[in-house]
Amino acid sequence: MTTVSTLPEVVTVRAPAKVNLELRVGPRRPDGYHGLATVFQAVSLHDEVSVWRSDDWEVVAAGHDADLVPAAPDNIAVRAARLVAERGRVDEALTIRIDKEIPVAGGMAGGSADAAATLLACDQLWGLALDRAELAELAAELGSDVPFPLTGGNLMGSGRGEQLTPVLARGTFHWVFAVSGTGLSTPAVYAEIDRLREQWMDGPVPEPRVSSRIMAALRSGDAQALGSALGNDLQEAAFALRPALRDLCEAGIDFGALGAIVSGSGPTVAFLTASHEAALDLSVSLSAAALCHDIRRAKGPVPGAHVVPAPRTPASNVHS
Ligand code: C5P
Repeated sequence: MTTVSTLPEVVTVRAPAKVNLELRVGPRRPDGYHGLATVFQAVSLHDEVSVWRSDDWEVVAAGHDADLVPAAPDNIAVRAARLVAERGRVDEALTIRIDKEIPVAGGMAGGSADAAATLLACDQLWGLALDRAELAELAAELGSDVPFPLTGGNLMGSGRGEQLTPVLARGTFHWVFAVSGTGLSTPAVYAEIDRLREQWMDGPVPEPRVSSRIMAALRSGDAQALGSALGNDLQEAAFALRPALRDLCEAGIDFGALGAIVSGSGPTVAFLTASHEAALDLSVSLSAAALCHDIRRAKGPVPGAHVVPAPRTPASNVHS
């Protein structure tokens, strides 16, 4: 008996945001990127990407900040889909629907999560069965932060952030994210750290290394230890470009957070708390202080991109 496999009409994939528990930035490389040593944690803020065949390339966005999501063809999700089409020799245009929960241009890799989700969704839609290594290779072509959300969890990143290795970790951590109304440009933040280092540093910028403190805190699952080990070399650059972020970090610590850090290139600030209840209390205090545009709570680590069993259909309402 032969089985006829039919390709799905719609595929929906969910992918998580990330926070860099530690982000060490090395010297600027000849290709313009900076060598990194970082530890990523995937957190429970998700974007959902749904793909279906259509006459023309189109991006439809819904959810938080949907109006800030770039249209086709500039959206990284369209570049991701075209890359899979090229690899699979498929000649079809798609509508890509993005349901957003991850802040746009917030330093939480929202665009990268969308790209990772699109890679997996297109692979399923077109029945290509690309393996993990092939998807990771395509992800790295799209951006330094795109491979991480394919896997999720806690991973160490090296190279420009795209080379990933497992990290031994236990426990669940509770986060509060203070989201700004306007994003920061990642290239601008990297350019600012170069400029500041030219002013501050005499010798060459050292090669980046992740601290043993962060690794020990993750191994033990100790939130207090993790809170005091958080570190981000881009933070001073983000503060220089957006001075209010320094006050925001200090306010969160005053309100009882175990640690505060600018997430990636910012401007989102991540606060680590001791428990779900402590995260609720901190959210209330930060809201009352009116220091940021929006507040989200999440836990981490969570798994990486995965197919949602009941896909959103083209007829589903777009709620913005
Ligand atoms: O790889 P991605 O497209 O996300 O990078 C965006 C920009 O961020 C790069 O063009 C570069 O200016 C900066 N960047 C960097 N070093 C990295 C990652 C990103 O300088 N490791």
